[in-house]
Amino acid sequence: MPYKFVSKKKWDTEIAQKAMAAVEQITNEMGAEIHDDLMHRLVVFRFYFDRIERELNDPGQMEVLVTEMKSEFQDVVQSVRRISRQLMPAKMEQENFTKSIHLLCLSMERPGAGHIHFESSGTEMPISDMAETFLSRIVQELIHNAFKHSSAWHIWVRMIWASGQLTLEVEDDGTGFMEAAEVASQLNRKYNTLKMRSQAINASIHFENGTNGLLAKVSMGLSD
Ligand SMILES: Nc1ncnc2c1ncn2[C@@H]1O[C@H](COP(=O)(O)OP(=O)(O)OP(=O)(O)O)[C@@H](O)[C@H]1O
Ligand SMILES: [Mg+2]
Repeated sequence: MPYKFVSKKKWDTEIAQKAMAAVEQITNEMGAEIHDDLMHRLVVFRFYFDRIERELNDPGQMEVLVTEMKSEFQDVVQSVRRISRQLMPAKMEQENFTKSIHLLCLSMERPGAGHIHFESSGTEMPISDMAETFLSRIVQELIHNAFKHSSAWHIWVRMIWASGQLTLEVEDDGTGFMEAAEVASQLNRKYNTLKMRSQAINASIHFENGTNGLLAKVSMGLSD
């Protein structure tokens, strides 16, 4: 679509629609996370108050209850932390960008259902805040896609800082319904939020048939 001649107005409208759809999608994902994870934990926590009322006169039971509540509360804290990391992936707690991508990977792990392996090489170079935010969103969407469309068990996220260039790779080990090569060529042609965000920061995104499944490569020039 972007390579075909279209009027500026039509093009602007399309960009605006895609941008709004991207915002909507992230809001929905966060809503689902809050609903499925955090609300569930808070509801469980609510029942502790009923139990406290009942066990008030039994110090032994109260002790057991406090131990359980502490661990449950820790889970609530973890859940809020995970959601806030996904909402604000870059520049968390003064961490460097490599660390923040690593944390993003940890926050998207699916215990018992999907493992994300993170590797990095080279020395981190400064990049703009916008590049950090958009690259985080791109990695987030690539991981999301791998779990959603390929039923991946393993996802490898590699961050390669080379002289003059940063490359981020996301590879999965599932092919879903289609062959990875076919998915790659379809995605290379598609204008989606992955491409939009890459363009906005002068990066490029390319899909290919990797060793295990679909391999996405995002490259961005670095000025020194
Ligand atoms: N890791 C993957 N493995 C297999 N197929 C994939 C993978 N990533 C994407 N696809 C295929 O490419 C299509 C396009 O992906 P894209 O992210 O653009 O849209 P979507 O995930 O279907 O929708 P949205 O991202 O808007 O929720 C998917 O519908 C899926 O068929
Ligand atoms: Mg998607």
